[in-house]
Amino acid sequence: MLDRLALPPLPTLRGERVILREPRESDVDDRLRHPIDPEEEDGYGSSWRREWDGRRYHTREHLTARRRPPDPGVYSWAVEHDGQCIGGAGLRVDPDQHCATYSVGLFVARLRGQGLGQQITRLVVSWGFAELGAHRIQLEVLAGNTGAIHCYLAARDPRAVTEPGVTPVGLDITNPELVAEAAARCADVSLLVNNAGVMQASTFIDAPSLDAAGLEMETNYFGTLRMCRAFAPVLAANGGGAVVNMLSVTSFYTNPLDASYGASKAAALSLTNGIRIELHHQGTLVVAVHAGFINTDMAALVDAPKISPESVAQQAFDAVEAGQVEVLADERTRFVKASLPRDHELIYPPVQAFWDAAVTGS
Ligand SMILES: NC(=O)c1ccc[n+]([C@@H]2O[C@H](COP(=O)([O-])OP(=O)(O)OC[C@H]3O[C@@H](n4cnc5c(N)ncnc54)[C@H](OP(=O)(O)O)[C@@H]3O)[C@@H](O)[C@H]2O)c1
Repeated sequence: MLDRLALPPLPTLRGERVILREPRESDVDDRLRHPIDPEEEDGYGSSWRREWDGRRYHTREHLTARRRPPDPGVYSWAVEHDGQCIGGAGLRVDPDQHCATYSVGLFVARLRGQGLGQQITRLVVSWGFAELGAHRIQLEVLAGNTGAIHCYLAARDPRAVTEPGVTPVGLDITNPELVAEAAARCADVSLLVNNAGVMQASTFIDAPSLDAAGLEMETNYFGTLRMCRAFAPVLAANGGGAVVNMLSVTSFYTNPLDASYGASKAAALSLTNGIRIELHHQGTLVVAVHAGFINTDMAALVDAPKISPESVAQQAFDAVEAGQVEVLADERTRFVKASLPRDHELIYPPVQAFWDAAVTGS
């Protein structure tokens, strides 16, 4: 159970080119000096546009009628630039869940595209994470605000990244230089998802060499550790944010079918618990995601129930939103975790029986 966040009074936030402050009567005059911007209206989409006539809202009566004391947990700033109000920003806080929803709007069309929105967002998000203590701040998309969220997707071959709206980053997490480059390039990251992993289906004793175990450890443990170390200062600079580490049910127990993989995931669990402690002071939430089989290439040869990657991703983001440190994504994983105090009675005997039958061919 999370402690309820204390809700301080609305602070004044000062950036290089903007001030976020308590709204004033004179802001209405500034708003009325600027006509409704057709681009803003377009942003609501054509089906809404027929319903939504912005001119109805562009009157003194409407703008002053909206003034009322804000609800607790609702922060509304007027955004000032060059001595004039140019828009507003807001944060709606859920103090029990430690999360908040952020909205921003600028009504002066000529000021768009000059980085003011980014500066406003940084001020609010930094305050929300560092001062307020929120674990997650999500953007409330009021219009077609496609430029406001930046999503990087790293892959060893960036040409493989074709998802719309994401920025490809070439990255091999076993390469320290590329990891450092990625952290320098992605300096606005507030959520790091360490998903990369390899599984070589290798045993401890009968594997021909330590190559498979080495690759798994180098990727799943050292690669993830390298990423966490490189991005820790980035997350700190962006208000704390969150790290999601993709682990496994085999972080909890050893299965000889993927023995050395399990060892690397157990090491990655230890790392995840450790960085949670080490990064607590900077407000970084660290989430461990454990799953049994997931329906991806890694488990392509497995003929057993598999959870969908979408479900795992959704559960991971839900955990970040709720400030939870652990996801047990499927039934098998929940069973294994719950059985750990009696693992030699409940977990290992069937694994041993399965293995002995496989070895003896019975
Ligand atoms: N599938 C399962 O049953 C299952 C179950 C529990 C946990 N997991 C974990 O879930 C995560 C995602 O795995 P998946 O199921 O999507 O497996 P996958 O289909 O084999 O994909 C693994 C991904 O990791 C990337 N990767 C591997 N080594 C890398 C490196 N050195 N640098 C950068 N990227 C690297 C791969 O990139 P390339 O495209 O460049 O190869 C690929 O995108 C892994 O951490 C895995 O251990 C999977």
